[in-house]
Amino acid sequence: GAPITADISALTEGQRIVLEWRGQPIWIVKRSKSILETLPTLDSRLRDPKSENKDQQPAYIKGELRSIKPEISVLVGLCTHLGCSPEMKAEIRPEPFDPEWKGGYFCPCHKSRFDMAGRVFQGVPAPTNLVVPPHHYENDNTIVIG
Ligand code: FES
Repeated sequence: GAPITADISALTEGQRIVLEWRGQPIWIVKRSKSILETLPTLDSRLRDPKSENKDQQPAYIKGELRSIKPEISVLVGLCTHLGCSPEMKAEIRPEPFDPEWKGGYFCPCHKSRFDMAGRVFQGVPAPTNLVVPPHHYENDNTIVIG
C-alpha cells in the first residue's frame, strides 16, 4: 500500500486519530506530560520495556517512549496476540482492568494490557509490544505513515 499522510495540527492531549494503512488501523495519540512521566515507572512490569524486539518497530524507534517526538505515539492498533483491536483507556483508572492501571490499551478478547507506548505487560497472552509502523514527519504537523 502507498504511504498515507496525517495532519496532527488539531490533535490535543489524550486524543487519538485513527487511520487505515495496508488494511490495518493506525493510531496517532498525543500523550500528556503525566503519561510521559508514568511510562518509565512501568518498566519492571513489562516484557520488553526498552523495545529490544526489533520486529516490533523500525530501527529509529528506541527505548521506553517508542516515538520520534516524545508526545506523539504512532501504533498499529492490533493486539499482538490474535489481532483484536485494543481499547484506549488513557486515563488512570482502577479495576476491572488492573488495580495498578496507569492508562494504556486493553484488549477485550483475552485481556492483554499495553501501556501508552504500546508496551505489553507481563502475565498477559500478547507476546510482544504493539507494532510501531514506519513513519516520519514531513513537517511539524504532518506525519507520513509507510
Ligand atoms: Fe488481544 Fe487475545 S487478541 S488478548
